[in-house]
Amino acid sequence: MNHIIKSQQFSKEFILDFLRDVQTVKNNPKKFNEALKGKVVATLFYEPSTRTRLSFESAAQRLGASIISTENAREFSSASKGESLQDSIRTVNGYADFIILRHYENDASDIATTASNVPIINAGSGSGQHPTQALLDIFTIYEQFNRLSNLHITFVGDLQRGRTVNSLVYLLSLFEGNSFTFVSPENCKIKKGIKDHLEEQKCTYTEKEDIQVIKDTDIVYMTRVQKERFDDPKEYEKAKGKFVLTSALAKEMKKESIIMHPLPRVDEIEVEVDTNPRALYFKQAANGLYVRMALLKMLNENR
Ligand code: CP
Repeated sequence: MNHIIKSQQFSKEFILDFLRDVQTVKNNPKKFNEALKGKVVATLFYEPSTRTRLSFESAAQRLGASIISTENAREFSSASKGESLQDSIRTVNGYADFIILRHYENDASDIATTASNVPIINAGSGSGQHPTQALLDIFTIYEQFNRLSNLHITFVGDLQRGRTVNSLVYLLSLFEGNSFTFVSPENCKIKKGIKDHLEEQKCTYTEKEDIQVIKDTDIVYMTRVQKERFDDPKEYEKAKGKFVLTSALAKEMKKESIIMHPLPRVDEIEVEVDTNPRALYFKQAANGLYVRMALLKMLNENR
């Protein structure tokens, strides 16, 4: 495995092995503080980020690597002068051993691989995929349930534009007995390609427009309505605030259930929910560090 582009590249066996590696890193991160000694990691972010960029940069530093970075690459890199993504990637190949790329185009990471001899890691591409988020999501689920099968997962929010949902559904569909409920406003429905995939995998799914269904779920995965990806602001106004996880509703969920969110949150989870023991979203974000350490370490060992 050279590049990390999309969830479909991972097998069930890979996931289970990888989760063991993540646990090893999490148990004793200091043990790996020279794993990337002398290496340089480039973070090229053409869209805003808090968690993904900082956790990748922290992961690289904790493994002994150095960082070069362009935070607002759309404006502050030579993309603003008209340089193509391929030319930027070819150039950074001369400076870095790994390139972590966030981009507003769905196929940017695929395109980047055509110009790169060093690993490209997709750190979120348009409304397409966010595979390293899915890896940290699935690690968090495994930590909590000690299994990845026979789970009922309810995704809520902007399921059409949210890339984290796409990537996580692909991973969870590898494991037997999982069932999916999709709760979204009419103009934020899950993509047909994802439903086609679930049908091919013989996974059960339903679509609803009522957040009360989360009372019967093992995992509720809340997502933000992605204002920046709407072409028409009126459509955003129709969708925003439609499904909110209130503190009262969270208390009615199954005792062993969990609440996840890739973050950032806007208003779709009441702040009072944060103290509910089911709320795992900040722990989920913290797991991103160990997942990304394990991923960089694995890619380095494969080179
Ligand atoms: N979950 C996630 O990708 O967060 P950031 O946009 O802050 O990186």
